Amino acid sequence: MTAVLGFGGYVPERVMTNEDWSRLVDTTDEWITSRTGIKERRFAAEDESTLDLSEQAALVAMKDAGLNPDDIDEIVVATDTPEVYTPDTASLLQDRLGCRNVPTYDLGGSGCAGWIQAIDVARARIAFEPKKVLVVGVELISRLISWEDRATCVLFGDAAGAVVLGPGGGKATLVDVISGTDGSKADILTLQTGGTRHPFTVDSAAAGDHQRLDMKGSEVFREAVRRMSSVTLDLLERLDKDIDDIALLIPHQANKRIIDAVGQKLGIADERVFVNVDRYGNTGSATVPFGLWEAYEGGRIQPGDLVVLTAFGAGFHWASAALQF
Ligand code: ACO
Repeated sequence: MTAVLGFGGYVPERVMTNEDWSRLVDTTDEWITSRTGIKERRFAAEDESTLDLSEQAALVAMKDAGLNPDDIDEIVVATDTPEVYTPDTASLLQDRLGCRNVPTYDLGGSGCAGWIQAIDVARARIAFEPKKVLVVGVELISRLISWEDRATCVLFGDAAGAVVLGPGGGKATLVDVISGTDGSKADILTLQTGGTRHPFTVDSAAAGDHQRLDMKGSEVFREAVRRMSSVTLDLLERLDKDIDDIALLIPHQANKRIIDAVGQKLGIADERVFVNVDRYGNTGSATVPFGLWEAYEGGRIQPGDLVVLTAFGAGFHWASAALQF
């Protein structure tokens, strides 16, 4: 069965508080805290890019696994904020890390559910052929969204998380993953400009359309709670487990109110739900692997624990995964 051989995470040093945002747009700490639970987030330095964040998280994960770049057989990067438009961030990461000429690919556009989808793909690859797969979730959202749209800019932060997966041994077993998609809800969270339907133009760039994330906030909220709860219950049912068997639930960190609502719907005690959205905001496809690394590194996970990960993202996608430590 697929195992997690090592965990890694990285956040940039620069802290951006709600007070910092209130000096740039018409918002307040009170509004952001009461609606989202976010107090601060990290923003990449000017000379940092997606590749740098990915590299740092990957190095931590490889060190934790006791592996060298030469040992990695495949690389997957889940991101909606790639290093460049073409090629994929994974190719650049392979070169940066000094890995062999192994296959690499990005899983892009899946929003915040992308990293769980990526570990699902990786475990299928490992089942087909025993290999060590580096799976990174990274987002440098601060550079690609509008700093003038108060409805979205205050929600996000930059981070990266990573694991190395392998065919056995390691620190935890990736027991199961369930994921799903409802493409009819693509319009509730979308960035339209830059693709073939709405290519970049001088006018659209001048209007800042390429940085305009359209979000139907209340619909995203509703779908997020509904889907993260139901996919977690489906996963538990398939594993013949119940809520009390979960030692720690690590949900996508979009918003504390969403996390609380999922916890209430599942009937799981607050102390068994991992939360770091107050310190890092929504870091897209990095929230789950970075949270997993923080929980592991901070001693929140003990041998024998069943840890459940769950996420939702633009698509509309949802996914849950179970790790047995
Ligand atoms: N500061 C102050 N006022 C603001 C801000 C801000 N940063 N942003 C919006 N407002 C205003 C709006 O303009 C609006 O004013 P109006 O009534 O005069 O028009 C008012 O606040 C209420 O706006 P709503 O959008 O109705 O605010 P709501 O209470 O729904 O909260 C929020 C918005 C936090 C986005 C909420 O809908 C939500 O949590 N949605 C879930 C979406 C989410 O978390 N997305 C994260 C990304 S998605 C992902 O991770 C996959």
